[in-house]
Amino acid sequence: MDTHQKHSTREKTKENYSAYLDSEEFWNKRYSSATSTPVFGELPRDTLVQQFPTILSRAKKAIAQGRNYRIFEIGFGQGRNCIWLLKQLSNSLNEEEFCHIEFVGVDISGEAVSQTTKLAISLLGEHFVQQNMKLLHDDVGFHDEELQHSNIEKYDLILGFFIQFIQKHDILHQKIEHALKYNGMIIINGYTPEQLQYNTGGPQEIDHLYTSTMLKQEFPHCEPITAEDKIEQVEHPRKGQAAICTFVAIKTK
Ligand SMILES: C[S@@+](CC[C@H](N)C(=O)[O-])C[C@H]1O[C@@H](n2cnc3c(N)ncnc32)[C@H](O)[C@@H]1O
Repeated sequence: MDTHQKHSTREKTKENYSAYLDSEEFWNKRYSSATSTPVFGELPRDTLVQQFPTILSRAKKAIAQGRNYRIFEIGFGQGRNCIWLLKQLSNSLNEEEFCHIEFVGVDISGEAVSQTTKLAISLLGEHFVQQNMKLLHDDVGFHDEELQHSNIEKYDLILGFFIQFIQKHDILHQKIEHALKYNGMIIINGYTPEQLQYNTGGPQEIDHLYTSTMLKQEFPHCEPITAEDKIEQVEHPRKGQAAICTFVAIKTK
């Protein structure tokens, strides 16, 4: 989407846009000043690492059934999670099987898209990136194709790590659930309201924060595998304690 088109779309839906906390400029600035040490570090979230065996067996099952395994990530940032996941899948599947992995990501920051594209090319190869990855530079709230008008259930796996840029998160979560296939998996990590006591990152607006209990309500068609709130020791974006919720669930209805 070009800048003119994007601005006119936002103009039309100004009311919705005011619900968003983060701007493209904000994230571009953070990512362009953090190329050697990524803002959220280089390591993937533990939640994703722990779920990898399950993801792999689900991907193998989809491929054995002759279909692609489709992954969607919202706000992928500098790519620490999606690139790690795709690299693990490429190490665990044969070349033919890996061709059946498809990844679509959307991030509002052009800097995020360009840095993640470079990383993906260097670790996964240009051919895979061109054929099987779509890294969209866009505002997910305006992303008609992938979420907003998705009346078909498209994805086997949806990832959302610290995507707390919208006040009305229930609306975003509703769209995410809708975009998930029956029996698809969702993995979310976010800061809980308790995070306001710590100075280790995340939005300062309580309306943008949520707990695993809220997520259970916001994904009524999903059966949780893990739904918990914990205080974690984190290194990024600032070292210290952080109040983080984890929601891993399967769409069962
Ligand atoms: C807190 S960062 C998390 C990045 C990444 N998920 C991680 O954990 O390393 C939030 C990300 O969401 C992106 N973002 C913010 N508002 C967005 C929007 N409206 N649509 C799509 N992405 C957005 C930002 O550019 C940023 O990369």
